[in-house]
Amino acid sequence: MGIPTLGICYGMQLMTHVLGGKVGRSLQREYGRSELFIDDSEDLFAGLDHGAPVQVWMSHGDRIEVPPPGFRAIAHSANSPVAAIKSEEIKAFGVQFHPEVVHTPLGKEILKNFLFRICQCAADWTMESFVTRTVRSLKEEVGEGRVLCALSGGVDSSVVAVLLHRAVGNRSTSIFVDNGLLRQDEARKVQELFGRHLGLNLKTVEAAEIFLGKLAGMVDPEEKRKIIGNEFIFLFEKEARKIGGVTFLAQGTLYPDVIESTSFRGPSAKIKSHHNVGGLPERMHLQLIEPLRELFKDEVRQVGKEIGLPRELIERQPFPGPGLAVRILGAVTQEDLAILRKADAIVEEEMRRSGWYAKVWQSFAVLLPVCTVGVMGDERTYERVVALRVVESLDGMTADWVPLPAELLGTISSRVINEVKGVNRVVYDVSSKPPSTIEWE
Ligand code: XMP
Repeated sequence: MGIPTLGICYGMQLMTHVLGGKVGRSLQREYGRSELFIDDSEDLFAGLDHGAPVQVWMSHGDRIEVPPPGFRAIAHSANSPVAAIKSEEIKAFGVQFHPEVVHTPLGKEILKNFLFRICQCAADWTMESFVTRTVRSLKEEVGEGRVLCALSGGVDSSVVAVLLHRAVGNRSTSIFVDNGLLRQDEARKVQELFGRHLGLNLKTVEAAEIFLGKLAGMVDPEEKRKIIGNEFIFLFEKEARKIGGVTFLAQGTLYPDVIESTSFRGPSAKIKSHHNVGGLPERMHLQLIEPLRELFKDEVRQVGKEIGLPRELIERQPFPGPGLAVRILGAVTQEDLAILRKADAIVEEEMRRSGWYAKVWQSFAVLLPVCTVGVMGDERTYERVVALRVVESLDGMTADWVPLPAELLGTISSRVINEVKGVNRVVYDVSSKPPSTIEWE
């Protein structure tokens, strides 16, 4: 290709196979931690060879028997005589292990060596430059046109709204849809913050009746997601027509939304239609603008800081586009929404009070479609179950449940059962992602 290449794991095997080397099945598979012996510390492993093996993470059943012509081995492990290769001539490198995972502690150094020594990249990407570049390209993209920004009040869409406002001023209108699936007091808070404090050109659309009408009786999670996505777009297009001259719709789509909602670029199966991406109708008339499409959440939070969003907003936990509809399992009703809102508000209040809110990725309540028997006073009850979901994660793509202190769990549980009518049991979700997902639907 004429540019430096780094093949990782299967990438190195593919490179070997295609370029005329030999890949064979190893007698012993190598999964997990392994020791790497560096045999050449000139470029990829520069500065890493201190005479002792380094820890790496392996995950392979095949191994390189013979490197391709022009390549030579630059590291080995007990199980892989050729654990890394290089060709000086075509500047191609391969590693059998995974430098990108935390279990390869020096992995970042290896990637840095590849980028800065071998590719001679310059580390000039900063959040500041991202903001400047994005504002500039938004200006160019929108030109003299008008744009609608789908504002949910979460950090992603807020960042988009502010960037757009910087780029095109009042030719951007932020639309906040009250779809009836929001949390307690959310609509009021969003209007106050964005309209009053941040001075955005904000329009709220009251659409609870429409959304709840369309969702009535719908139980399938993907159907529910599609209905909500379609309705959002329908409303945005309607608002666009009212304003006139609007050709773009901006959204706070992040990279994980893109990966998990599409399957055409890689082996990952479509998991859920995240409403930002997969839930959109195919024939939408507005052209999509997604300036954060290549960022992860922690990076968006940094952008948020860079552009001066209030800390409370930056720290807000993610909230799914389809809102409480994917946290009420099965059909969504007004009654269930009222129950879930109360339970969820208690969860948030207690998480904040105990200092756990900002430490975790998400913490929320889910309303299950089952009733269980309980006893309150002398009375038998037969009421609903609330599941508590609290996870830690870096990007939402993998996650683990958080072992909250028993006392906090107890406080949340007794408050929910005592204060929320219709609930007589709280259970704690102790599943990781994978194999579960974060949201229950
Ligand atoms: P899952 O449930 O797929 O969620 O493990 C991963 C993360 O994405 C959030 N989520 C959504 N975000 N639109 C969004 O903008 C959606 O449709 C959506 N569905 C899930 C979820 O809350 C978690 O943080």
